[in-house]
Amino acid sequence: MTGIETAHWPARVEIMDVAPRDGLQNEPYLLPAEKKLRLIRGLVDAGLRAIEVTSFVHPKAVPQLADAAEVVAGLPQREGVAYYALIPNEKGYERALEAGLRHIALVMSVTETMNRKNIKMSVAESVEVAQRLIERARGDGVKVRMYVSVAFVCPFEGPVDPERAFDLTARFLDMGADRCCLTDAVGRANPRQVAHVFQTLAGRHGTERIAAHFHNTYDLALANTVAAMQQGIRFFDASIGGLGGCPFAPGATGNVATEDLVNLLHQMGVETGIDLDKLCDLSEYVGEFSGSVPPSAFYRATRVKRKAS
Ligand code: COA
Ligand code: ZN
Repeated sequence: MTGIETAHWPARVEIMDVAPRDGLQNEPYLLPAEKKLRLIRGLVDAGLRAIEVTSFVHPKAVPQLADAAEVVAGLPQREGVAYYALIPNEKGYERALEAGLRHIALVMSVTETMNRKNIKMSVAESVEVAQRLIERARGDGVKVRMYVSVAFVCPFEGPVDPERAFDLTARFLDMGADRCCLTDAVGRANPRQVAHVFQTLAGRHGTERIAAHFHNTYDLALANTVAAMQQGIRFFDASIGGLGGCPFAPGATGNVATEDLVNLLHQMGVETGIDLDKLCDLSEYVGEFSGSVPPSAFYRATRVKRKAS
């Protein structure tokens, strides 16, 4: 690379694809477990080394993921690939371990209204649950990522005071969570706010235990990613084909598309270990089962050329 360089750019970014969980949970059709597994196998083949494969929540809350145990049972066993499931409470933890998972993503939201609507707990109750589960997970040798959700803007309470996210992140890291992932579940954060939040967190905790999760509702997910990367953040979530939304966060669209994120990173000379061509083949598959062309800019821009070659 030539020209002006910014000191904090990471040389390599690790992407967690969350399409099989965050992506699918809001889709109107039910995708059979076998097709979910085809999607997951495709992600592994494309080079993803962290995938959120399902969630162990109440099956009535998210019917799409009621087949969580079946999906986990069918996961391809590959060295170096970490499969995560989203967990809201003890029961979810037990179900995930029973299914055979060794990586969990605990979820809570920073605001009271969102947390109650999503998992029917107060923030204080969620912190207690997290404390108990992080301790158990450490004893069980299970890796824990902690979602600090709606860390920027709440669909019900509006802009979130960053001090609340800072406080919760510090507490979860102190408890022993391996990493905290700050999420913009509704896609309403802006790069200035993102830069402030991650500058503060990187200053306090370093960058290895912090991740970011952006939705693309207002087309700001890539801009927010760059803002976080400039603060040295190098763990990002994304969803193949931009699949997704949140059933408990009205108006939210999908995560940033994995292929758009990978394209951005490769253009900037940042390594990902991911094969963009294979990813786009998989987006084709997402388009097939979802019945609509994925809203990913890279996929759309290269689709005609790819079809002709
Ligand atoms: N998986 C399956 N069943 C669960 C469960 C879990 N993780 N947690 C609780 N249950 C069951 C209980 O066993 C109980 O069953 P019973 O009525 O047969 O005895 C019933 O649900 C009620 O238990 P309770 O602890 O009172 O749960 P709740 O009604 O307060 O619901 C959640 C809490 C977290 C289970 C529910 O709100 C939920 O699943 N939310 C998911 C939200 C989500 O996925 N959001 C998107 C991702 S951010
Ligand atoms: Zn999300």
